[in-house]
Amino acid sequence: MPKSPGGALLHGFSIDREAPVPIYRQLDAALRKLILNGTLLPAQKLPSTRELAQDLGVSRITVKSVYEQLVAEGYAEARTGAGTFVSHGLETDSAPNYRAPRRRSQTPAVEPTARAREIMATRATVRHGVIDGFRPGVPALDLFPVKVWNKYFNDAMMVEDRRNLGYGQTHGSADLRAAISRHLRDARGMQVDASQIIITSGAQQAFVLIAFVLLRQGDTVWYENPGHIAGRDVMRIMGANVAPVPIDREGMDIDHAIARHPKPAVIFTTPSHQQPLGTTMSLVRRLSLLNYAQENGAWIIEDDYDSEFRYRGRPLPALSALDTDRRVFYVGTFSKSMFASIRLGYVVVPPGLADTFAKARSLLGQNSAAMVEHAMARFMEEGRFVEHIRKMRRVYRDRRNVLQDCLTRDCADHLELQPTDAGMHMLAWLKGGIDDQTAHSALLDAGIESLPLSVYATGPIEHPALVLGFSGVSENRIPKLVRRMSGVLEGLRHSG
Ligand SMILES: Cc1ncc(COP(=O)(O)O)c(C=O)c1O
Repeated sequence: MPKSPGGALLHGFSIDREAPVPIYRQLDAALRKLILNGTLLPAQKLPSTRELAQDLGVSRITVKSVYEQLVAEGYAEARTGAGTFVSHGLETDSAPNYRAPRRRSQTPAVEPTARAREIMATRATVRHGVIDGFRPGVPALDLFPVKVWNKYFNDAMMVEDRRNLGYGQTHGSADLRAAISRHLRDARGMQVDASQIIITSGAQQAFVLIAFVLLRQGDTVWYENPGHIAGRDVMRIMGANVAPVPIDREGMDIDHAIARHPKPAVIFTTPSHQQPLGTTMSLVRRLSLLNYAQENGAWIIEDDYDSEFRYRGRPLPALSALDTDRRVFYVGTFSKSMFASIRLGYVVVPPGLADTFAKARSLLGQNSAAMVEHAMARFMEEGRFVEHIRKMRRVYRDRRNVLQDCLTRDCADHLELQPTDAGMHMLAWLKGGIDDQTAHSALLDAGIESLPLSVYATGPIEHPALVLGFSGVSENRIPKLVRRMSGVLEGLRHSG
């Protein structure tokens, strides 16, 4: 039976648990409709997340995510300590029962471009907002040394000539680039001159820059399948023909790619730890890939997003370290090793391209915040970064162990684990014919995050699985979440 909220504000709205549409989408659509048709008036307070979650019998995290999306899109405003309100800016007409926003009625209807439609079809905002276990790729934010970082950040603000309040250096802070080049030499076996490094606002901006500078309409891009979602979307939207390349035990299946999609302009790969399957590309495969790129004039994007976290043995050097012909764009990020809102990453570009990339970077949104770059440079120079990574490596290994043990104990009937010795997530193959999107939605409604393997893939996947992040969840929360997860999966099996 659909359940109706008691609150007068949302009178008449009900969740349909039988519908194929996930609960959070139903709630999101209902609230938008109530705002647009004027049932909920500008500046009107929305029910608290707790109240609405209780009324509807859904998790608070679902309601929070919906509110955050409404705020992000300007339908609502969040006021600290006071709650969430319908936006002031949404002036409405006073026609009975239908109050269209005035701004909209004054603007002629716009036919979205093909690019606009493609952008809207992506999952670009999916990872924003409140975080709960087991969202993949989230570092241990609970253990980040905020006081220490504050000191560095504060010092950066106080620099005497106030230079960090300006636009900063076009290629990114020289000190930070030097610190990164030392780190790449020590940790990744790369000999990189700091002049080849461009600081970006995260790895994603590096992918955008590469596509912006290099890609021509219709160029073929070999892309790992399954593979990193946001990078693939950007290549496609920038006009590339994104060619899915399957992954075998040694990494990207180059023979398959050569046979099906000859002459790529760009090859996107995560050789250290394939996203999301976790494979490490073999040395033989790395050398074949480099040879192929050299002989065919293709560029390689090496996304080295989480290579800091390896729990057994030494990591293989970066693919870029073997690249004598300088075909590789090596992309790194501080989103995993520090925290995502730092918005700092970098790309090591082949010689001769640094100035082009610095200019492109300026055109696409200027440099990163100079004070953040300054703080990060000192954090690295004074050994804090390496110290933090070492500590996190131990923490993540322990969290992985606990998650593995709990899943083996409580979810063995529903999940088959793929053990991992690296990274921040593990794969759990779904048993009993449960579809991964259904499992993901049901878990989200129970306040548990994950990602379905199928969202990383172009086309159907062979076997459904959940991608479960372990790094961001404290050890004492894991057992409780896993027990809840077991209940949800059990329920799905019986309802299916
Ligand atoms: C494979 C991969 N590459 C790169 C990134 C980092 O993105 P950014 O540095 O823009 O936060 C992520 C984050 O989710 C990722 O999963």
